[in-house]
Amino acid sequence: MGVAITGTGSYLPEIKLTNRDMEMMVDTSDEWIITRTGIKERRICPKGKASSDLGVEASLRAIADSGIKKEDIDFIICATITADMYFPSTACIIQKKLGLENIPAFDFQAACSGFIYGLEIAKGLILGCGYKNGLVIASECMSRLTDYTDRSTCVLLGDGAGAAIISYSKEEGILDSYLASNGSYGNLLYTPGGGSLKSSSFEVIEKRMNFMKMEGSTLFKIAIHSMSEAVLKILEKNNLKKEDISLIIPHQANLRIIAGVAKNLDIPLEKFFINIEKYGNMSAACVPVALDEAVKSGKIKKGDLIILVAFGAGLTWASNLIRWVK
Ligand code: ACO
Repeated sequence: MGVAITGTGSYLPEIKLTNRDMEMMVDTSDEWIITRTGIKERRICPKGKASSDLGVEASLRAIADSGIKKEDIDFIICATITADMYFPSTACIIQKKLGLENIPAFDFQAACSGFIYGLEIAKGLILGCGYKNGLVIASECMSRLTDYTDRSTCVLLGDGAGAAIISYSKEEGILDSYLASNGSYGNLLYTPGGGSLKSSSFEVIEKRMNFMKMEGSTLFKIAIHSMSEAVLKILEKNNLKKEDISLIIPHQANLRIIAGVAKNLDIPLEKFFINIEKYGNMSAACVPVALDEAVKSGKIKKGDLIILVAFGAGLTWASNLIRWVK
């Protein structure tokens, strides 16, 4: 007996922001964005909608995919750095929109590594508390944290949501996880204003402190190193060779980062699932959206061993070793 992923779902808002659109907003070019990042377009959540709305749609698809009734869900957890509001939690807002009551629901955040942390949290809740089915959501409206006058960040980010049903299962599916973080790198990627340190004010807005700040080139090197480490650690811990892995689902921050990890590990790039060209970096939502697309396009088959791997603000970095049992 163990814990396994029994359903996946994803949702991308319809509005597209293409590289041509970006050319009209900042001093950039389609050619620069494609060659430096691999991104062609990203999705934008419409005004009046929020992370919970994207999360609900992804959740409904994951519930349908798993074949359970929504009333069979025992808890809801949501990874997001773009919560609808300070409180209540986005997970509770999703709970209400799904028409569910009297089950635990809470948010947590590990930035782009959120979904990978979430699978391990869900496994712990199922094994430790006796729950049968959990809904793990990663939903992000990165457009709300994006400074569309800053060409070094605005071309990278997009909105979307992914979800999974995690269930107590006859077969072990979530085999192992490697979770890491190092807060001393926090200044490389952060939003200075709008939190409890510098709450919303005229000064915060005027100085654009409510938008994400990033040291891109330093992060680039750390990302390659930390994602490579997360893959190697989980292989070592489980006495596996890289050849045993059918597919790696990486965080989609930059195609050159994914290619750097592939080169570092001496694993062919074809073994990495890549969809960055369509959506850009959706923080925690990247991995579950890619997982759902990989499953639905037949790239993952029953019995396959796969690795999910990400890095993000914190800094955090993490991996899951998954056997696909569905
Ligand atoms: N269009 C045109 N030129 C640009 C753009 C742009 N959109 N952005 C930057 N440039 C320029 C720079 O100004 C610089 O010009 P200069 O040489 O005249 O000073 C030049 O391009 C090179 O800039 P670099 O920053 O060295 O470019 P680099 O090749 O490193 O690519 C990038 C920048 C894409 C940001 C890369 O460093 C990267 O992907 N870093 C990691 C980002 C990341 O993963 N962030 C974390 C995710 S976000 C999250 O977790 C929520």
